[in-house]
Amino acid sequence: MKTVTLNSGHQIPVVGLGTWRAKPEEIENAIDAALEQGYRHIDTAFNYNTEEAIGKVMENRIRDGKIKRGDVFITTKLPNVGNRSRDVEKFLNMSLERLKMNYVDLYLIHMPFSFFGDEESYAPLKDNDGSVQLDVNANIVETWGEMEQQVEKGRTRSIGLSNFNMEQVERICKSCKIVPSVLQVELHAYLQQKELVEKCKELGIVVTAYSPLGSPGANQHFSSKYNYTIDDFPDILGHPTVQNLAQKYSKSAGQILLRHSIQRGIVVIPKSLNPNRIKDNINIFDFGLFDQDVQALDALDRGERGRIFDFLFFKGVELHPEYPFKHRFIENTLKSM
Ligand SMILES: NC(=O)c1ccc[n+]([C@@H]2O[C@H](COP(=O)([O-])OP(=O)(O)OC[C@H]3O[C@@H](n4cnc5c(N)ncnc54)[C@H](OP(=O)(O)O)[C@@H]3O)[C@@H](O)[C@H]2O)c1
Repeated sequence: MKTVTLNSGHQIPVVGLGTWRAKPEEIENAIDAALEQGYRHIDTAFNYNTEEAIGKVMENRIRDGKIKRGDVFITTKLPNVGNRSRDVEKFLNMSLERLKMNYVDLYLIHMPFSFFGDEESYAPLKDNDGSVQLDVNANIVETWGEMEQQVEKGRTRSIGLSNFNMEQVERICKSCKIVPSVLQVELHAYLQQKELVEKCKELGIVVTAYSPLGSPGANQHFSSKYNYTIDDFPDILGHPTVQNLAQKYSKSAGQILLRHSIQRGIVVIPKSLNPNRIKDNINIFDFGLFDQDVQALDALDRGERGRIFDFLFFKGVELHPEYPFKHRFIENTLKSM
């Protein structure tokens, strides 16, 4: 498996398996299938409810001598209900316990904004009108300081950020002892994040693309879980340019999109529960896109209009001082006027 070297000196495999929106019983089979196909990188989060399944599969495989802990790069994330310095160690320990591991390879701050959470379920607390209770006093620079402590204590090998905007990444970099190794953000053909990727390159931060296929199916999840739908939900896999290139290269649309990102030096973490698609999504190293085809895919970029995950399904999140996509909220408000 091709890897990229992080600024921490550790290697991150270029393709990982995403595990969001997967039921525990489904994800065990998917992880097994993925490891069988050569995946050595799994992305999870405290919030995904998949850490235990990952721990179980890894434990079985290690016990059977099929794999060693050090062979697989495991990423998990600090939830926004624990996004304050005093909670970092507690949440990382809980993740490690679920994963049955004594360290993770990468620990990310999942989102820059912080909520108050229920002490038992860890769900965000809500007001009577459904608004989430914002913790506006949590300080991301202080949280980062505690993330650095976790590297020193050996609980994580590398640390990073997710869903931070450029100003927030730069703010962390100005005051840190350890520069973030990874920034994990939404990135696909419709939201190519060119400026942010350039800035990360300058800062020595590797970018990981989440929802690299445009998260087909997420709209259904939003509407059933949050009663929230995106009117113009993208179908990037079905775009004629992507479909034509799939035919030209005799590859699937998914492979074309993933190949486009890895040719930009970006790590991708597509999620699939389907054995054939799991196999497809990692078989992207036996071909290369020609320059004119890269340009055709580059031209699909819609900038901020291509963003799917603005987190506005958390009612009132835009009022948090660290909400990273303020312009998006303003745009939506103007559109509805
Ligand atoms: N940091 C964050 O805030 C954040 C946010 C979102 C996601 N993530 C991470 O990024 C991972 C990937 O993002 P995502 O799950 O939103 O979206 P995605 O990987 O872009 O898309 C996943 C969806 O595409 C389908 N799919 C997978 N491979 C396919 C292929 N080759 N052709 C056609 N359809 C395919 C899957 O269905 P099947 O399962 O049926 O194949 C699934 O419904 C997540 O699982 C999670 O680990 C992080």
